[in-house]
Amino acid sequence: MSDTLDRRVQQLSRAARMLATIAASVKLRSSTTVDPAIREQIELGARIALDDVAGALDSEDLSAVVTAAEMAFAEGGELLRNADRAPGWQVEDPALLQAMGRASSNAFDRILALAETRPSLRRTLEGRFLDVGTGVAGIAIRAAEACPALQIDAIDLWAPALDLAERNIAASPHRSRIHLRNLDVTALALDPRYSLAWLPTMFMARPVVERALDRIVAASLPDAWIIAPLYTLPTDPFMAAMSTLRTLRGGGDITDPGDIAAMLKARGCTDIEIDAEPLATFVMGRVRA
Ligand SMILES: C[S@@+](CC[C@H](N)C(=O)[O-])C[C@H]1O[C@@H](n2cnc3c(N)ncnc32)[C@H](O)[C@@H]1O
Repeated sequence: MSDTLDRRVQQLSRAARMLATIAASVKLRSSTTVDPAIREQIELGARIALDDVAGALDSEDLSAVVTAAEMAFAEGGELLRNADRAPGWQVEDPALLQAMGRASSNAFDRILALAETRPSLRRTLEGRFLDVGTGVAGIAIRAAEACPALQIDAIDLWAPALDLAERNIAASPHRSRIHLRNLDVTALALDPRYSLAWLPTMFMARPVVERALDRIVAASLPDAWIIAPLYTLPTDPFMAAMSTLRTLRGGGDITDPGDIAAMLKARGCTDIEIDAEPLATFVMGRVRA
């Protein structure tokens, strides 16, 4: 290895360890069993790593720090181990599936925040919600928790996730309102019943998204909202490449929110909006009354 390459690799390895140490120090706050000398070194490492944001660990909401680190290492580790795997959602590791579920449940909080300023979206939270690609049911359980009148149909076709979803739902006090099914969204029954639908397009190839939208529009009540997220393309070129890679390896291929907006428009939806945040962009539209 040349000296320059060696320096760069050392620098990046250091950054990876720093992120792990920061998240570990946050996790250790709720542990009483760790060896005191080990705790001391982890805390020292975290303080050094956070030099430019001194005091941050005393003030911020720290669960987001752990989630960000867990996601970076889970995704990076999987890429390193299986760089040559075929595209598609093939995660079997229960810990990773559960971590994805915890991370994705935040998506429903974002829907709640959007509903605060959109009365027609707020009204959908008292009807029936279709959670496509429910995984371990992170979004479905959060939806049931936050909206006491909402019924939820949670569908997926990946057995390892469905097994965990079944257990997570059984452990939820809101289980009576969450209906889990092993179902491909392209086989969704057509009778109109949904007030709100979630379609994560980043895990589906374009023809599947097209067929899914046909079905969802047919299965929606007038004035229902459809929310179809995709990964945001950051302006930073490396993170943009990672975003596209995440979509492709997840089984999706659409990276332009304009494509999804056009699909909603072609199906008669109105009030189409593109709401971008750093990780995910929501494309939303209202089924014509
Ligand atoms: C990242 S996971 C969703 C995570 C989920 N929100 C959670 O809380 O765990 C995406 C899911 O979409 C599912 N999926 C992909 N294509 C699908 C299809 N055609 N119909 C239903 N689900 C599908 C995958 O099996 C996968 O479990």
